[in-house]
Amino acid sequence: MCFFVKPYFLTLVLVSTYIEDTGPSKASNTKRERDIVPVFAGPIPNVTVPLGREANIPCVVNELGSYRAAWIRVETKAILTIHQHVITRNYRISLSHSDNRNFILHVKDVKESDRGGYMCQLNTVPMMSQIGYLDVLVPPDIIVDQSTSDVVTREGTNVTLSCTAKGYPEPNITWRREDDEPIPLILGIGKKLMNSSYEGEDLNISRVTRVHMGAYLCIASNGVPPSVSRRVLLHVQFPPVLWVPNQLVGAHAGEEIALDCHSEAYPVSINFWKKREGEMILSNEKFDVSSKEKSYKVHMRLLIRKLQAEDFGTYSCFAKNSLGSTEGTIRLYEIPTSTSFSRDTAEKFKHMNRDFPKHQSLGSSKSSRKFNIEKGLPSVEATTRNSSETRRVINVLLLFCIMSLCTHAITLKNFGE
Ligand SMILES: *[C@@H]1O[C@H](CO)[C@@H](O)[C@H](O)[C@H]1NC(C)=O
Ligand SMILES: *[C@@H]1O[C@H](CO)[C@@H](O)[C@H](O)[C@H]1NC(C)=O
Ligand SMILES: *[C@@H]1O[C@H](CO)[C@@H](O)[C@H](O)[C@H]1NC(C)=O
Ligand SMILES: *[C@@H]1O[C@H](CO)[C@@H](O)[C@H](O)[C@H]1NC(C)=O
Ligand SMILES: *[C@@H]1O[C@H](CO)[C@@H](O)[C@H](O)[C@H]1NC(C)=O
Ligand SMILES: *[C@@H]1O[C@H](CO)[C@@H](O)[C@H](O)[C@H]1NC(C)=O
Repeated sequence: MCFFVKPYFLTLVLVSTYIEDTGPSKASNTKRERDIVPVFAGPIPNVTVPLGREANIPCVVNELGSYRAAWIRVETKAILTIHQHVITRNYRISLSHSDNRNFILHVKDVKESDRGGYMCQLNTVPMMSQIGYLDVLVPPDIIVDQSTSDVVTREGTNVTLSCTAKGYPEPNITWRREDDEPIPLILGIGKKLMNSSYEGEDLNISRVTRVHMGAYLCIASNGVPPSVSRRVLLHVQFPPVLWVPNQLVGAHAGEEIALDCHSEAYPVSINFWKKREGEMILSNEKFDVSSKEKSYKVHMRLLIRKLQAEDFGTYSCFAKNSLGSTEGTIRLYEIPTSTSFSRDTAEKFKHMNRDFPKHQSLGSSKSSRKFNIEKGLPSVEATTRNSSETRRVINVLLLFCIMSLCTHAITLKNFGE
């Protein structure tokens, strides 16, 4: 209601009243009233509120009588209220009073500038006062200009990811990986640490490797919700490497076979397959070229359908990026099947035995007993008699021969006795 009155006038009147009140006498005061000394009911509490909320600071006075209570800002000495009236022109400040005893100062939509001391003063002689402090909490906020953006670096370099945040109280910074994997850190000389989180503004990674690659989160928190985070991507570049789990793969004609290569590279490599010096293999009726990617790792697979004689041979997988290229080879050899175990295959065997003279001929009398082969080279009849056994032994032999391991150690004797 006082807002409708001319404010200057009101202020002047109130202030003069207040000043008058601090004087030694007031006409209306009886002697009895003057003898009563007001007392604060208790200390003014310290109030803590988050930014934007309302702060309520109570001043409770017993036996106020005809004295007046005023709220004054300690830092600026500005008079905020006197008795029942709001003096300040700060529209966010209001007062509720009751029973000539409770004077509650309300500060709505608090700002950081409201942080400080609030004095409740009584115009007694000498003047009586108490101070309560308003603390304004500010949720954390990451200062983008002072924080690292995405990083691209080479393996072996030292990297620092920085994150700075403001807020009140001072926020703490925690770094962690988005996938929650531990971060391998080298702290000082020889001190290694595997931790899923790191406390501090600067996350120093010395001699960065591909395992450090990924998304990092810098989380700023100071107990005032909400916490905030910033996502930083760390890209670690390195030339491609290849790993071939099976360099020698055997298969039967007519079958379908998959050849596998695993590559690692960043930037992401171009991956492809070739047969000997041929052209790049593309998916078609014969081949299916596929790959599964997981960050910097790629699992390459070449599927070859309905194997024919010309499909056997050497295949190569390639991985290339801007930093280099590499190649892996796989030899695909034919495992004779019972049905294809014909005179042709037998001829192959004869050949092989000539190529490796130390190796006893399959047709030797000793081996024939074991193989259930009566005479000469294995025949279709022989294989049908106990095809599984024969096939198994022949496959083993074939494998050894192709691997060029057919030396003294491996002879049919070993199998025969
Ligand atoms: C308020 O905080 C001040 C220091 O900031 C302290 O001296 C005073 O005792 C506190 N008041 C209460 C009621 O806790
Ligand atoms: C390691 O992680 C734990 C829990 O994640 C954390 O409390 C601790 O501060 C971390 N250590 C360092 C050195 O950051
Ligand atoms: C991190 O590296 C910076 C320089 O890049 C250095 O100033 C800082 O002291 C290092 N911090 C730690 C914890 O090793
Ligand atoms: C990277 O840090 C390691 C130790 O943390 C130090 O020995 C090496 O000299 C640093 N390398 C560069 C290029 O700063
Ligand atoms: C920051 O971290 C320190 C040490 O871990 C802790 O004592 C303090 O309470 C934290 N501050 C906040 C605002 O969370
Ligand atoms: C073939 O050989 C396997 C393994 O040695 C044996 O279990 C099986 O009984 C044999 N079959 C015939 C028909 O001789």
